[in-house]
Amino acid sequence: MKTLRVGLADRGYDILIGGGLLDQAGTLIADVRTPSKAVVLTDDNVWPLYGERLTKALGTLPHEVIVLPHGEQTKSAAVYANVLSCCASYALTRSDIIIAFGGGVIGDLAGFVAATYMRGIDFVQIPTTLLAQVDSSVGGKTAIDLPEGKNLVGAFHQPVLVVADTDLLQTLPPREQAGGMAEVIKYGAIFDEALFALLEAHPTWETITPLLDDVVYTCCDWKRQVVERDERDTGDRMLLNFGHTFGHAIEAHGQYTTYIHGEGVALGMVLAAKAGICRGITPLGTDDRLESLCDSFGLPMTDRFTAEALTAHLTLDKKRAGSTLRLILLHRIGDGFVQPLTVDEVLSLTEALCHDR
Ligand code: NAD
Ligand code: GLY
Repeated sequence: MKTLRVGLADRGYDILIGGGLLDQAGTLIADVRTPSKAVVLTDDNVWPLYGERLTKALGTLPHEVIVLPHGEQTKSAAVYANVLSCCASYALTRSDIIIAFGGGVIGDLAGFVAATYMRGIDFVQIPTTLLAQVDSSVGGKTAIDLPEGKNLVGAFHQPVLVVADTDLLQTLPPREQAGGMAEVIKYGAIFDEALFALLEAHPTWETITPLLDDVVYTCCDWKRQVVERDERDTGDRMLLNFGHTFGHAIEAHGQYTTYIHGEGVALGMVLAAKAGICRGITPLGTDDRLESLCDSFGLPMTDRFTAEALTAHLTLDKKRAGSTLRLILLHRIGDGFVQPLTVDEVLSLTEALCHDR
């Protein structure tokens, strides 16, 4: 087992990473908290696969399990309100805990329930997707969606423990494995050329699998550092949005059904590399390196977009962000930076890129 400590004064916590940790979940939780009961939030893909093992691991800790439909629709205000009611009818108190057992959807929802139920109770993350293990389970961003947009309601609320059992990643559908790899590639691109080179040397799910403990550890270590520097996302933490400005536009263009998040991010990272090249900052060929790595992990690299398709959604961002967008660009692989640009600059850059493609 590998351990990282997120150093956030009275909100610090451990991230535990390794194969087989699910079966030790009860004792690992008991090392940090002694609740009298727990509510487990999970989804209808994860629970049939791993529910029995979690129940056994929790041992004598009384717990109620709420199995929700999988998918982004579960991060809704209606489901959130139902879960709060379940917590109340189970008489969950402030000395008890919530356990998020699933991917980013379950983690974000459970975290927001924990942030708000009785003005905040402790929660443990047991992330089961690669995206959740390397990104969403760490750092305390919790949220639900509104019909008007994703993640529009939320809170910063750190977990008290993260238990990432890397064995669980083998049952992910290949598309979710690839989507998670997009986030791993992102860490390499913005922070860590050695990680990027390691991925290039093991450029498929099969070849990277024996190294997943190290890879998840490395990504969590980068995220830990960023969160320690900028817990509230006003500075360096924005670097984690590399590929996300264009990626969100691509996801929205596909009406959130054509592309999963990691696929949008992968396409967005290549566009962001091209944007940096266009502005004479990013070295020529960086876009090809990113594209080839994403492609080898099975991310959809052949799709092309018209400027009109993307600018429609980027313009919508204008309403949210004011006249300035913070685009993440690369000085080179392993060295990302925040580039404030006017929305109009981003729009004309997008036009140039899309004509380019
Ligand atoms: P997800 O939670 O929808 O999981 C993807 C799919 O994999 C689901 O169908 C799920 O049932 C299934 N699954 C999960 N674990 C499995 C396993 N071990 N074996 C088989 N199937 C399994 O998606 P995600 O990609 O994990 O998370 C996406 C969400 O995360 C989005 O809502 C996004 O907004 C959020 N997010 C949050 C943060 C943050 O910092 N809080 C960061 C990035 C993304
Ligand atoms: N996933 C982006 C963040 O945690 O800030």
